[in-house]
Amino acid sequence: MGIKIANFEMKNPIIAASGTFGYADEFEDFCDVSKIGAVATKGITLEPRSGNDGERIFETDCGMINRIGLENIGIERFVEEKIPVLKKKNITYILNAAGSTIEDYSKLASIAHKNGIEAMELNVSCPNVKSGCLEFGTDENSLYELVSRVRKNYGGCLIVKLTPNVTSIENLAAAVEKAGADAISAINTLKGLGIKIEYLNGKFYKREVQGGLSGKCIKPVALAMVKRIRTATKLPIIGMGGISCLNDLFEFISAGADAFEIGTQNFTQCDVCNTLADDLENFIKTNGFKDFEDLKEKIKEIN
Ligand SMILES: Cc1cc2nc3c(=O)[nH]c(=O)nc-3n(C[C@H](O)[C@H](O)[C@H](O)COP(=O)(O)O)c2cc1C
Repeated sequence: MGIKIANFEMKNPIIAASGTFGYADEFEDFCDVSKIGAVATKGITLEPRSGNDGERIFETDCGMINRIGLENIGIERFVEEKIPVLKKKNITYILNAAGSTIEDYSKLASIAHKNGIEAMELNVSCPNVKSGCLEFGTDENSLYELVSRVRKNYGGCLIVKLTPNVTSIENLAAAVEKAGADAISAINTLKGLGIKIEYLNGKFYKREVQGGLSGKCIKPVALAMVKRIRTATKLPIIGMGGISCLNDLFEFISAGADAFEIGTQNFTQCDVCNTLADDLENFIKTNGFKDFEDLKEKIKEIN
């Protein structure tokens, strides 16, 4: 079940997605975090951020909209307080990094390198902040420049997380590969708007939250994006978007994914990452596949 992307080793291909699993240790009461392939941390910036004011979460019929706005403790506290805990507890993690300028990302990369952080996922796809981030993920030249600069400062496994909110995800994937990244993860949330209208005692009331849509409803979009990325690059792809069960993993493999991130499902099924890793392992064993690679090959052969 173990997989390796560049030099980064994971116990299995299941990763808890950024922003849905805190800094990992918070989930210890609910599941065995050390058994998860890896945990992508909440998006970390150079300075701490308090995130957006007002309503941040909106539940939809088959997913959620969030506008957290990258609330996080900042890289300094992450290094001082969180890394020792993650190491002690044998939790494999990926630093999800976000910024407003190329300099922000480059500095984060240097700090990650200096502190021996083995894998870094560049969030160039957050739709919920005013500047930076998504701007890099929607323009192939800016993205190339950003990833190249980060690559110079960082020797670990470099993953770039793409947004579906673009016209040609193929061009962006190609730019990421050319700039020297080790893998692509996709997708981040889709831009969405949640509106709820209630009529009470002769008066209308409205709730409105604009942010990133995630969960089961985005799976078809995610599969389409992974398939399109696969046509543009040979880099490993970490697929995500609405994954909740074993069959979803098979579908993502068929579209071109090599590993998986699980996001919104963690909110309603806190041990879903462990469950999926177990389900995958059992399926491989009981059906006579050699290993995860073998299963992947067989699924890819289906016409
Ligand atoms: C509440 C919330 C916070 C998120 N925060 C981040 C973040 O900080 N960095 C990031 O790259 N993605 C973030 N995401 C996006 C997820 O990592 C994932 O790409 C997206 O939700 C799609 O996967 P899912 O449908 O399984 O949730 C966040 C998603 C949610 C729901």
